[in-house]
Amino acid sequence: MSDVVEVQVPLGDRTYTVTVGHGARTRASSVIPSTARRVAVVTQSGIPDTYIPQFPQQSVSIHHIGDGEVHKSLTTIERLCSEFAREGLTRGDVIVAVGGGMVTDVAGFAAASYHRGIPVVHVATSLLAMIDAAVGGKTGVNIPEGKNLVGAFWQPHAVICELDALATLPEREMRCGLGEMAKYHFIVREDLNEMPFNERIARCVGIKAEIVAADEREGGIRAFLNYGHTLAHALEIGTDFEIAHGEAVSIGVLYAAHLAHVLGRISEQRVDEHYRVVHDVYGLRNPLPEGVIADRLIEDMGRDKKAVNSLTFVLDSADGLEVVSGIEEQHVRSALDALMARLAQ
Ligand SMILES: NC(=O)c1ccc[n+]([C@@H]2O[C@H](COP(=O)([O-])OP(=O)(O)OC[C@H]3O[C@@H](n4cnc5c(N)ncnc54)[C@H](O)[C@@H]3O)[C@@H](O)[C@H]2O)c1
Repeated sequence: MSDVVEVQVPLGDRTYTVTVGHGARTRASSVIPSTARRVAVVTQSGIPDTYIPQFPQQSVSIHHIGDGEVHKSLTTIERLCSEFAREGLTRGDVIVAVGGGMVTDVAGFAAASYHRGIPVVHVATSLLAMIDAAVGGKTGVNIPEGKNLVGAFWQPHAVICELDALATLPEREMRCGLGEMAKYHFIVREDLNEMPFNERIARCVGIKAEIVAADEREGGIRAFLNYGHTLAHALEIGTDFEIAHGEAVSIGVLYAAHLAHVLGRISEQRVDEHYRVVHDVYGLRNPLPEGVIADRLIEDMGRDKKAVNSLTFVLDSADGLEVVSGIEEQHVRSALDALMARLAQ
């Protein structure tokens, strides 16, 4: 194990460490609570067993959940909790999630609920889980009425970002993580491009940690993590989720730049910088999906969670990101036209 970096998420007596590096999973046994006699590992069958850490002092049970959002459900939570109960898992024990954001969201919510809350350690194996889902304490599952509609804030006891795991991550999943990574370039005004990739992952974790520490329950700046997500969600809905979330975010970030420009908030050069990061640094040249219609996108953006009474976006400015409400539809439409024209070039 070399070049392992530790990032703190400072939350008072719930402060925890995110360990980022190749072979970081070997530290898992030292970060679980000292009271733990049993470890319940939650993972998926497609995730290589080699990423499951060893816990020589504890009795370990392995619990698989299905692949895909349909399994991110209350049914899965009930099944997991029954399995934990049969294993005799108590509040002094620990759940260890080994996987991508789906596993950390599900295992995190099971941990928040079982015995009214037991510690959870996330071992993130996808890029998206490392830089986003595993850090920050948002957990939850889907119900037919909506994605992530049932959940809890439940901070992990520790997080491990196992960089070895990126070697087996499917290419499309990697690209999805890169789509989320691109947004961090605009949350902070730092030259993330210059950093080696592993350091950039740790820096993204650090940025998320700072935001979570400042706004744990998303009353303010945590919304910046949704940069590019308003159009992204509309694209996901408009394509019946044919487009993957991270792919949609990579387009949404470009759209947010056009909208900020239409509103006179940023220069043309800053729009170009968005394209440089998304297209050149990350190679995410995703076209707008075929058949998406501007009217439908605008309607769906109006229904976004952040939009209370009007079209609301996280937008760039000379002073950084801001949440902007009350945006007129004509501006939203002009920015869509500009995006479509540029992506068609
Ligand atoms: N809680 C949060 O703050 C937060 C933030 C962003 C996203 N999310 C959630 O995260 C989920 C998406 O996470 P994701 O993009 O990691 O997708 P995912 O967890 O569904 O993983 C994608 C696929 O990659 C596989 N996989 C993961 N790591 C692997 C590895 N190292 N090698 C081989 N295969 C591997 C998984 O088994 C799965 O098939 C969504 O449910 C989303 O809602 C949560």
